[in-house]
Amino acid sequence: MIDQLYRKAVLTVSGQKFVEDLVRSRAWSVAQRFVAGEDAASALQAVRELEGDGILGNLDLLGEFVASPEKANEFAEKVLSLLDQANAAGIPPYVSIKLSSVGQGQTVNGEDLGLTNARRIVGRAKQYGGFVCLDMEDHPRVDITLAQFRTLVNEFGNGSVGTVLQSYLYRSEADLAALQDLHPNLRIVKGAYLEPESVAMPDKADVDASYRRLVYAQMKAGNYVNVATHDESIIEDVKHFVLAHGISRDMFEFQMLYGIRRDLQKELAQQGYRVRAYIPYGRDWYAYFSRRIAERPANVMFVLRGMLKG
Ligand code: FDA
Repeated sequence: MIDQLYRKAVLTVSGQKFVEDLVRSRAWSVAQRFVAGEDAASALQAVRELEGDGILGNLDLLGEFVASPEKANEFAEKVLSLLDQANAAGIPPYVSIKLSSVGQGQTVNGEDLGLTNARRIVGRAKQYGGFVCLDMEDHPRVDITLAQFRTLVNEFGNGSVGTVLQSYLYRSEADLAALQDLHPNLRIVKGAYLEPESVAMPDKADVDASYRRLVYAQMKAGNYVNVATHDESIIEDVKHFVLAHGISRDMFEFQMLYGIRRDLQKELAQQGYRVRAYIPYGRDWYAYFSRRIAERPANVMFVLRGMLKG
């Protein structure tokens, strides 16, 4: 409950315009702990560095809801260019996108622009042998994101596109069951948005228990699962679960965020698990950064110290 209150406080305060202006102007050096850089070249460089530790990359051009089709198309072009650059650098492109950043919710030529742009992006990634994960955003977007995911799997297959379920949402177990006919590639996360108690569990213990149930259900169904957490006790339980149920190591991977628990990422890779770091980059880092601060009280002090240092 305290975790929820803390998160709510940080996400509410960070939503204030003057706080955003202040943090944007003073905290870029601090944000770089969580963000690989401002351009694709920096992100690809981060992939190369992680490769040295046996860790794979998941590239994420930072950006959230955009209000105009022009901006959405512009953003989609940048993601396409990222795919081209990764491919040219010999890196099979694995990217994450937020559908709100490529036009979800805006109708153009009779179709949702988020779907139109996602189709271009998944198509290009598939051409390069890559993969696109549709990040999950706040709860009003879940229905449309899952529907668009279904459309994309039907068009491109489940080996080129995946999506995310959040264990804090009461609905996620039912969503997982409803997706099973697709044999979906799913990333399971706890959930990072400010959500009302009517849709999201307020207690961390319930969110953690739901997390385990989602991962285990996906594994038992024989579908690929991305175990995206830094929670060591869950990671240990998953290791035991896969041993006990004979789940092969190529049916799941551990995923963590760039700059968080790098020690654990390396350790798991050394133990022979597939590990992938989510590597965000770009100028639009504020919302992503706020969610990272909201996840851990110690991070507020880290930001304040960094801002005071200038
Ligand atoms: P939890 O919050 O319980 O933290 C466990 C431990 O991890 C902490 O005790 C601390 O040691 C460490 N830790 C966690 N967060 C930290 C931080 N910010 N700084 C330093 N240490 C930290 N969410 C979402 O809603 N939609 C999405 O699409 C995604 N995508 C996504 C991809 C990947 C690869 C990851 C790892 C996470 C996401 N998330 C997400 C975010 C997710 O919902 C969640 O907010 C964070 O992963 C933090 O939760 P943990 O599972 O790590 O557990």
